[in-house]
Amino acid sequence: MTAPKICMVGSCMTDLVARTPRLPGPGETLFGTSFHVGFGGKGANQAVMAARLGADVSVVVKLGRDSFGENTFKNFQEQGCDTTYFFWDETGLSSGVAPIWVEETTGQNSIIIVPGANSALSPADIRAAHTAIEDAQLVICQLEIPLETTLEAFRVAKAAGVKTILNPAPAAALPDELLNLTDILVPNEVEAAMLSGMPASTVEQAEASARVLRGRGVGTVIITLGDRGALILTEDGAEHVSAERVQAVDSTGAGDAFVGTLGYALAAGRPLRDAVRTACAIATRSVLKTGTQTSFPYRAEVEALL
Ligand code: RIB
Repeated sequence: MTAPKICMVGSCMTDLVARTPRLPGPGETLFGTSFHVGFGGKGANQAVMAARLGADVSVVVKLGRDSFGENTFKNFQEQGCDTTYFFWDETGLSSGVAPIWVEETTGQNSIIIVPGANSALSPADIRAAHTAIEDAQLVICQLEIPLETTLEAFRVAKAAGVKTILNPAPAAALPDELLNLTDILVPNEVEAAMLSGMPASTVEQAEASARVLRGRGVGTVIITLGDRGALILTEDGAEHVSAERVQAVDSTGAGDAFVGTLGYALAAGRPLRDAVRTACAIATRSVLKTGTQTSFPYRAEVEALL
């Protein structure tokens, strides 16, 4: 069987993760209990998740010429991602970093991203990388690179008949053109609320919020709801997919595990509901371990789910 082909156009960060008994308040200094440096960035995480499940993933990213950039390049190669369209910033920007605080009792986190070279990934880079997009079955983007770059990636994808998945994270206002070019929008409840202008915390609210987003031109909306699963809205109607409840150790990157799995499963030809159920199950697994990519399972560990 040929591997499903995915192109990820998006971000890479180096995660600087501190675990603390609770999240600090303004002006407060707290003792943390542990610290680690890991590979992150929503785009990189989604690409790595899909690659671990067996997708043929090409990444279109930009890094700074520093040790974080070199290590990220090596990590993509070790994970089996195609780095043909890996761009280096030559203007002195640093690679992207993300200081992250994880609360030990709940596994919840707070993240600051400093995009660095991610902010220099340009529409011209996308045009240079057009074959990576055109050769894929689907393209996945997020919002940690400039909006006009994401827009260009989706324009190239649509012109070639390639399916588009947008994870609108971190939350930001989106132009109608981008929503119209999006086949599947995958916000979490906070992002859905921001984009639709209405709450999306319960399944009922998420459905109403998804209807507003479909009304703005998106094909399918999938709102992730943490341990309550996900709400799917297509032209055929709404459906709630539930998830297993677990005691989270670290929720960082769970949304990325969801999107990467969803992309893999859809590119592999699985029906939408089935793909969402698998994405919920693998995202749930990812919260049981610490770290971001370190918590994502390899195919052998989740064969039964696939
Ligand atoms: O979604 C989690 C990711 O968000 C982290 O890896 C961090 O780098 C930020 O991009």
